[in-house]
Amino acid sequence: MIHNRAAWIPQVRGQLEVRDGPEPQVGEFDVLIENKAVAINPVDWKIRDFNVLGKKYPIIIGEDVSGNVVEVGSSVTKVKKGDRVLAYCIGLGTNKPINAGFQNYSVVPEITLSPFPESMSYEQAAVVPLGVSTASAGLYQKDCLNLPYPKPGSREPTGTSILVWGSSGSVGANAVQLAAASGVHVVATCSKKNADFVKGLGAKHVVDYNDESSVDQIVEALQGTKFVGAYDSICLENTWKACGAVAEKMGGGLIIGTLQPPENIELGEGVKAKGVFAITIALQQPEVGNAIFRDYLPAALKSGEYKAKPDPKVVGHGLESIADGFAAQKKGVSAAKVVVTL
Ligand SMILES: NC(=O)c1ccc[n+]([C@@H]2O[C@H](COP(=O)([O-])OP(=O)(O)OC[C@H]3O[C@@H](n4cnc5c(N)ncnc54)[C@H](OP(=O)(O)O)[C@@H]3O)[C@@H](O)[C@H]2O)c1
Repeated sequence: MIHNRAAWIPQVRGQLEVRDGPEPQVGEFDVLIENKAVAINPVDWKIRDFNVLGKKYPIIIGEDVSGNVVEVGSSVTKVKKGDRVLAYCIGLGTNKPINAGFQNYSVVPEITLSPFPESMSYEQAAVVPLGVSTASAGLYQKDCLNLPYPKPGSREPTGTSILVWGSSGSVGANAVQLAAASGVHVVATCSKKNADFVKGLGAKHVVDYNDESSVDQIVEALQGTKFVGAYDSICLENTWKACGAVAEKMGGGLIIGTLQPPENIELGEGVKAKGVFAITIALQQPEVGNAIFRDYLPAALKSGEYKAKPDPKVVGHGLESIADGFAAQKKGVSAAKVVVTL
């Protein structure tokens, strides 16, 4: 029998407590993973400190894991026992503790996991799942930017373009890589120090968002392309507005945000905005989850054309270190993802 331990948040603003976790039950389409590394996301400390999603406590959270497959459900075809996998844990959507990531064992639906190659470490693999899922929701869902799916080994130019605002973070770096792999001309913003990193992800032009003329520089870099819209991974009032200014100058477009747009915000003529939730690629539009986690990532990670970025910043080992991970993520990271090994 498996003895599962988990890092629980006992109550809002409570200290993480490591104690026994739920016993795994593996459904037909589920995979049981023994976790070897987990990554920390902004939503984790936002749930602990502000209960941003209105959850009941005590709760186990955690979205990003990598580890080894221990058991598969009867209808699972993607992976088998012993495979190394990275997985987006969707406990925040199912509200089942065993579907969360901050524990020794997690049960994950097949749709949100991919095998990863021997050349990648567990620490590297853990940085991918939520970033790639959130990016995919905004880029590929029909009611979002609706880009063509990426195909391993091919990036036929489509003639279309997007802007990615905040491209050195987890969501932004994955959005740049995916859109470039879809053959889209990507113009991206980040701090000056991260420009080479973002170019290496496939952005055609990188603009420093601190520069006063950033909007004009972006518009110039988009000339000659068919502008589809913007992906704002930061979602501050000024980043929504800057994306809106670009879109208006380009004749209109859709701005996708990782948070909901502020009510009554004026973004310009012909400009629409909406926020996305990563979970929708598993629960509402599973064709997107399959296109990325089944049809693209396994091959693209193996060939090296898709990179696990931004790099992991390992802050400790063991479930007890996840609290340190929350502190490091909350303090702020630049082109790095906070990881704890297990
Ligand atoms: N809706 C969903 O399902 C979902 C899923 C995941 C994340 N999110 C949300 O998406 C947001 C981003 O998450 P993440 O994991 O990508 O964060 P992250 O990796 O922590 O973001 C770090 C990046 O933010 C950039 N940044 C910080 N302040 C900025 C500013 N004022 N203007 C522009 N860029 C700035 C930094 O860029 P430089 O260092 O280059 O300056 C840094 O590289 C968070 O609010 C998170 O809660 C939502």
